[in-house]
Amino acid sequence: MENTAANFRKHFPALSQQVYGKPLVYFDNAATSQRPDCVIEMQQKMTGQACANVHRAVHRLALDATELYQQGREAAAAFIGAPADEIIFTSGTTAAINLVASCYTRICLNKGDRILITEAEHHSNLVPWQMACAIHGTKLLVTPVKEDGSIDMETYRKQLDNGVKLVAVAHMTNVLGVENPLKEIITAAHEAGAVVLVDGAQGIVHSRVDVKDLDCDFYAFSGHKIYAPTGIGVLYGKRELLEQMPPYMGGGDMVDRVSFEKTTYGPLPLKFEAGTQNISAAACLAPALKLAREAQEDAELQAAMNATDKLMAEQLGTIEGLHCPSLANPLRKGIFSFWIDGVHPTDAAEIMDKLGVAVRTGYMCAEPIIRKYTDNGMMRASLMPYNTQEEVQIFMEALRRALKMLR
Ligand SMILES: Cc1ncc(COP(=O)(O)O)c(C=O)c1O
Repeated sequence: MENTAANFRKHFPALSQQVYGKPLVYFDNAATSQRPDCVIEMQQKMTGQACANVHRAVHRLALDATELYQQGREAAAAFIGAPADEIIFTSGTTAAINLVASCYTRICLNKGDRILITEAEHHSNLVPWQMACAIHGTKLLVTPVKEDGSIDMETYRKQLDNGVKLVAVAHMTNVLGVENPLKEIITAAHEAGAVVLVDGAQGIVHSRVDVKDLDCDFYAFSGHKIYAPTGIGVLYGKRELLEQMPPYMGGGDMVDRVSFEKTTYGPLPLKFEAGTQNISAAACLAPALKLAREAQEDAELQAAMNATDKLMAEQLGTIEGLHCPSLANPLRKGIFSFWIDGVHPTDAAEIMDKLGVAVRTGYMCAEPIIRKYTDNGMMRASLMPYNTQEEVQIFMEALRRALKMLR
């Protein structure tokens, strides 16, 4: 099994480098994943050959760029089970959520209505809704999570009866790594007359997503967390909602007819894609998501990933004074956030960095959920299928060494 992860790892050149003379152990995947050869090659192709703007010209380079760009959209659509014209390119999850918070709220909210999020949301799925509430005179409701990071579904159901028009919830939370029961959340929201936006930034990496089966109204994710470059994100939206929504930005490519008296907008998805998009990064979604799908379908690789996760959980459990709220939660996937009595997480991470180990510390753009547990921030180690059990051992040695120096 360990060989399977080690073989998969060979696709990612950055993982074979040394830092400070030590082999790199990259456990900051929830922030951004590493890029495989096939994506690097596509980036080179988009820069070195098919370098042109899309949609506008009839020359060869423009046709090539447009075709590769469109293949990126089709790959994103197929990956989540949606038609290609319900896939809107954005710069990332944050931009996708802001688009909905700006445009959908304009058609759905009246004074006194409610928007509902959970206590464990990333700032990207919190601040845009606060901003929308301030504009529309609406109130933000927050569903608490239990001690182990699971949503308090009983409270959620009660809150829905309170004039909630929109629910915005993470598929998988970025601090505690807990996969939320989306079907239950979505069905209950629909019964209460609310639409649901799913923040899939983490969930897209660790779960198979079928938006039609989930019946979510919007689903957002970022390419860079799933092997593609930064600067490309995807917003899926149900056609009937996208058609009712006003455009987000005005400019080239999003129009049908333009005159000084009146402008009409283009069809989906162009209506929401004003200006030149990140063409090269969009094209890279095709090889990135192809590899991601192969990884999902490789039972041996998935088993290796589960075994690595299990080993990490067991090992962390042996550290005295370590608190990881979701450690034993069966819904946790690939992410470990914890704090250790008497040690500042950033001090420990700096020592670990010199030993070649990359982790994230602080509030991880989710300050409310971190402060629910501790005031000094946490350390987060997040795994991908290319991480190995050997790396877990190196990580643990580095952590123990840091603790010895700091306690
Ligand atoms: C759950 C979650 N939502 C949203 C985001 C924001 O993603 P991006 O910075 O790619 O827009 C992140 C990034 O870490 C995340 O983990």
